[in-house]
Amino acid sequence: MSREHWEKQASNWAAWARTPDFDAYWKYSPAFFELVPPPRGRTLEVGCGEGRVTRDLAKRGHRVVGVDATADLIRLARDADPANTYLRCDAAALPFADGSFDLAVFYNSLMDVDDMEAALQEATRVLRPDGVLCACVTHPIADAGRFESSDANARFLVEGNYLGPRRWLQLPTVDRDGLSMDFSGWAYPMEAYFRALEGAGFMVHALREPAADDDQRWHRLPLFLMWRAVKIA
Ligand SMILES: C[S@@+](CC[C@H](N)C(=O)[O-])C[C@H]1O[C@@H](n2cnc3c(N)ncnc32)[C@H](O)[C@@H]1O
Repeated sequence: MSREHWEKQASNWAAWARTPDFDAYWKYSPAFFELVPPPRGRTLEVGCGEGRVTRDLAKRGHRVVGVDATADLIRLARDADPANTYLRCDAAALPFADGSFDLAVFYNSLMDVDDMEAALQEATRVLRPDGVLCACVTHPIADAGRFESSDANARFLVEGNYLGPRRWLQLPTVDRDGLSMDFSGWAYPMEAYFRALEGAGFMVHALREPAADDDQRWHRLPLFLMWRAVKIA
C-alpha cells in the first residue's frame, strides 16, 4: 500500500521537501542531528526519498548510502548528489552483507515502509555489533487524533483507537503555497515501535519529543518522536 502511495507522490514530495523553509524538516532536523553520533565507518539511510537527509549527513562528514523503494526519488537523489551512492531496494530486503554499516538512519520512513518490523530486523543485520540506529517518526500521539482548529489552544480530539494493530491513516491532501502533498501512511501505537526495536535486538539510549517553537499547538503536543538505539544482540 505504501509503495504505490509513494510512487504516486514522488514529484509532489520532491517539490515539498526541496522548497527552503517549507517542510517541518527545516525546524525539526537540528534536534534529530543532535542524536546522530559523529561519523565512523559507513552510514545507511533507509527511505532516503529525494536525498535531503543523506546530503545533510554527508555534509557532516558521514560516508552514506541512501536507499529507497521509489525509483523516481532515487533518480532525483542521484542527480542532486553524484558523490554519494543511492540504491533502489525495499527496506525489508537490503542488498548489503551482514555487519556492513556503523549507523542506520530512518528519518520519517519507518511509518511509511509496509513492514516496519522486517525493516528493523534488516537494519540490525546490516549493522555491525554496537552499531547505532537513529530514527524519527510521526509521533504516535499526533497520528492518534487531530486538532479541532488552527487556534493556539485548539482541543486535540482522539476518535477511535490509539491502541491496537497498526492502521492505514488516510489523510486529506495538504495544499499550501501552490504545493500539494498526501501524507497518508501507517500509524502505530508507541509500544509497536519499541517492541519491534526490542525484538530486533536494539537498546534505546536516548529519546526526544521536540516542541515546535513557532506553533503553539505543536508546542503543547509532540509532532515527532526521535530516538537513538544501539545494536546489542
Ligand atoms: C516521508 S519520505 C522521507 C524521505 C527522507 N527520509 C526525508 O526525510 O526526506 C518516506 C520515504 O520512504 C520511502 N519508502 C516507503 N516504503 C519503503 C520501503 N518499503 N522501502 C524503502 N523505502 C520506502 C518512500 O519512497 C519515501 O521516499
